[in-house]
Amino acid sequence: MAKTVWITGASSGIGREFARRYAAMGCRLILTARRADRLTALAEELNDAHGTVCRILPADLADRADCDRLCAELAGERIDIFLNNAGFGVCGSLLETDPAKEEEMVQVNVAAMRRLFQFMLRRMQAQGGGTILNVASSAGLLPGGPYMAGYYASKAYVVSLTRGAAQELREKRSPVYVCALCPGPVNTEFNDRAGVVFALKGITPEFCVDEAIHGMLHHKTIIVPSAFMRLCTSAQKLLPTPLLMPIVARQQKKKLG
Ligand SMILES: NC(=O)c1ccc[n+]([C@@H]2O[C@H](COP(=O)([O-])OP(=O)(O)OC[C@H]3O[C@@H](n4cnc5c(N)ncnc54)[C@H](OP(=O)(O)O)[C@@H]3O)[C@@H](O)[C@H]2O)c1
Repeated sequence: MAKTVWITGASSGIGREFARRYAAMGCRLILTARRADRLTALAEELNDAHGTVCRILPADLADRADCDRLCAELAGERIDIFLNNAGFGVCGSLLETDPAKEEEMVQVNVAAMRRLFQFMLRRMQAQGGGTILNVASSAGLLPGGPYMAGYYASKAYVVSLTRGAAQELREKRSPVYVCALCPGPVNTEFNDRAGVVFALKGITPEFCVDEAIHGMLHHKTIIVPSAFMRLCTSAQKLLPTPLLMPIVARQQKKKLG
């Protein structure tokens, strides 16, 4: 029987590429994001290309009621793979960023991410198996991120929550596998949304998804796409935080243009 894959943030970038990849593998898809027109266009594209059956569940993950509705709508559904991907960044000094935008980011990147993760974790444990990939960021592997501090902190939460849950599942010999994807810059709409230009050359969403699927096949808990970013994340662990923070601040300031 075809596997069912639920993807949040499927209307663009990494999420849309995951949808294309799992459709090509013959999976049935559930697509979530706010832009329903984009999800409909993607569903039509995938149906034409692969005969994929897509269920479209638009939702604003910044809205708690929408998260409740999603969980209620999917309560009876078997989902084999959950890609908890929706998210966005707010760039600038915390002295100047819009508090409402920071709040919305915490709702989407942290609160909704946690809510849907725990919901699917329990469902998959009860159904006897499944895979969950939480999309964090290489930002979440750093001790802090000046000039994008709220975003870095939100992604550190995703990394920590996933690592903790993964260990609990291992100790229980659970049939559920969870991991966190921690990409560096990826060429998507993320930049425009955050109002930044990357300081480092970005990878394509296609390559990011290749690396994610490879990491999932090897049951890695933390997946860092690209050898270069793996080198950077290993090297940064060697530097004491007081030395590392000004370097991160300099890189971040370059993004502000
Ligand atoms: N691009 C990068 O450099 C990079 C690096 C590391 C990690 N990431 C992470 O990768 C994930 C995907 O980002 P991306 O690079 O693919 O960026 P993207 O092209 O901007 O896609 C973001 C997706 O999240 C959805 N989303 C945002 N806010 C939402 C909300 N309130 N409710 C529902 N859906 C919402 C968007 O859909 P709608 O706008 O249609 O709602 C869109 O489908 C994010 O978690 C991001 O933090 C990105």
